[in-house]
Amino acid sequence: MVCFRLSPVPGSGLVLLCLVLGAVSSYTLELNLTDSEKATCLYAKWQMNFTIRYETTSKNYKVVTISDLGNATYNGSICGDYQNGSRIAVQFGSGFSWIVNFTKDVSTYSIHSISFSYDTSDNSTFPDAEKKEFLCEKDKTLTTVVPTTVPSPTTTPTPKEKPEVGSYWVKNGNGTCLLATMGLQLNITQDKVASVININPNTTHFTGSCHSQTALLRLNSSNIKYLDFVFAVKNENRFYLKEVNISMYLVNGSVFSIGNNNLTYWDAPLGSSYMCNREQTVSVSGAFQINTFDLRVQPFSVVEGKYSTAQDCSADDDNFLVPIAVGAALAGVLILVLLAYFIGLKRHHAGYEQF
Ligand SMILES: *[C@@H]1O[C@H](CO)[C@@H](O)[C@H](O)[C@H]1NC(C)=O
Ligand SMILES: *[C@@H]1O[C@H](CO)[C@@H](O)[C@H](O)[C@H]1NC(C)=O
Ligand SMILES: *[C@@H]1O[C@H](CO)[C@@H](O)[C@H](O)[C@H]1NC(C)=O
Ligand SMILES: *[C@@H]1O[C@H](CO)[C@@H](O)[C@H](O)[C@H]1NC(C)=O
Ligand SMILES: *[C@@H]1O[C@H](CO)[C@@H](O)[C@H](O)[C@H]1NC(C)=O
Ligand SMILES: *[C@@H]1O[C@H](CO)[C@@H](O)[C@H](O)[C@H]1NC(C)=O
Ligand SMILES: *[C@@H]1O[C@H](CO)[C@@H](O)[C@H](O)[C@H]1NC(C)=O
Ligand SMILES: *[C@@H]1O[C@H](CO)[C@@H](O)[C@H](O)[C@H]1NC(C)=O
Ligand SMILES: *[C@@H]1O[C@H](CO)[C@@H](O)[C@H](O)[C@H]1NC(C)=O
Ligand SMILES: *[C@@H]1O[C@H](CO)[C@@H](O)[C@H](O)[C@H]1NC(C)=O
Ligand SMILES: *[C@@H]1O[C@H](CO)[C@@H](O)[C@H](O)[C@H]1NC(C)=O
Ligand SMILES: *[C@@H]1O[C@H](CO)[C@@H](O)[C@H](O)[C@H]1NC(C)=O
Repeated sequence: MVCFRLSPVPGSGLVLLCLVLGAVSSYTLELNLTDSEKATCLYAKWQMNFTIRYETTSKNYKVVTISDLGNATYNGSICGDYQNGSRIAVQFGSGFSWIVNFTKDVSTYSIHSISFSYDTSDNSTFPDAEKKEFLCEKDKTLTTVVPTTVPSPTTTPTPKEKPEVGSYWVKNGNGTCLLATMGLQLNITQDKVASVININPNTTHFTGSCHSQTALLRLNSSNIKYLDFVFAVKNENRFYLKEVNISMYLVNGSVFSIGNNNLTYWDAPLGSSYMCNREQTVSVSGAFQINTFDLRVQPFSVVEGKYSTAQDCSADDDNFLVPIAVGAALAGVLILVLLAYFIGLKRHHAGYEQF
């Protein structure tokens, strides 16, 4: 049980707030918020009662305890994001509201502030009260010491189905210059925990630019500041995915940014498109990879807004290169051995001739 003593206007009254968290048989309050991906982002189950001392019309004080919060509503509760922390807001009874703001520090959530407001003009709850409204707010320095026993906003790993396939394009003066169709799944590893996030094309905005040697496709959404795919031309005749940069807001409110401009994925001849229906992984860094599904891209030489013939990724299954390389190396060794043998033989032979 955690109790807070809140004092509104100095000397006028006092609120004692007790919170019971954890194993209590009958909870009165339960909040389950989900994010846009339908994953639970904040879950809280708790019980609380308030003891309020208030001033009466006869300049005395009375104490009232409110433990039955009746039908509470949770309007204004938010999961929180990069800008706003998590917030639990509860409204109950006649004009009571209780708002807790959380802040997150590495892995510990703590209460940033608690505010409780009540209206003493409700004379069934506050008989004989001086007509005053109160808003009390807990002093910040005190509330931040609240330990992790506060109802922590929790993240649950979202179930990982295949991401939906989105169609993206970029236009320049001459019409469509870049085409991409793909299902994207981001895999971010932090503190040895991988979070897998599917990109929902319905809520993803895209833009980009095309130049003769490079092309950019940039995606963004409410939680992705940007996800850039930069394509380049090599040897004047092929294109490839050269660079990926991402900056996104994680559920815990932190910003995750990473990039790599030294990639070589999705390599195909200019004038064609690159296609891969099976799941493929673009490994941007140890902490960030993108799984692609039903991929088709053409970042250059798009004619009339349509894909050109595709080079399929089965062609870049470079497994067969390994046996060839090993075979070539073995052949090299064999030639060296034979050479050594013949040289040795010749020397040997030459040695005999000297006698
Ligand atoms: C919270 O809501 C989500 C979606 O409605 C549900 O899947 C989840 O089981 C709920 N969690 C709890 C603890 O009730
Ligand atoms: C307030 O809640 C605490 C914890 O459940 C309980 O011990 C206390 O008796 C309650 N006070 C009132 C007046 O109901
Ligand atoms: C509030 O809860 C009571 C039961 O506790 C119920 O009878 C009543 O209909 C509810 N009122 C509203 C507005 O939901
Ligand atoms: C709170 O939400 C309920 C439904 O969830 C709605 O009926 C009510 O009008 C909302 N109240 C406020 C103050 O927004
Ligand atoms: C943060 O909260 C403010 C006010 O509630 C709101 O206007 C703003 O859109 C929120 N920011 C985000 C990113 O949700
Ligand atoms: C809680 O956060 C919201 C938005 O961030 C802010 O408007 C509000 O004043 C905060 N409340 C308290 C009590 O700090
Ligand atoms: C509460 O206030 C109303 C008017 O605001 C009054 O009519 C009523 O008698 C009061 N009830 C009590 C119990 O004081
Ligand atoms: C449009 O196409 C012409 C020739 O096909 C080319 O010279 C020009 O650079 C293109 N403009 C843009 C903006 O790509
Ligand atoms: C996410 O990345 C981690 C670490 O690289 C890996 O172990 C895990 O299998 C990946 N998950 C998916 C769904 O790609
Ligand atoms: C995207 O929109 C399509 C059609 O409007 C709908 O069928 C699909 O379920 C939506 N996908 C998601 C992930 O919301
Ligand atoms: C993506 O960014 C553009 C501007 O860069 C902005 O107008 C748009 O609202 C953003 N889209 C989303 C879904 O955040
Ligand atoms: C780019 O990657 C190649 C191998 O993939 C590596 O040999 C090279 O050093 C890298 N260059 C930079 C600047 O990281």
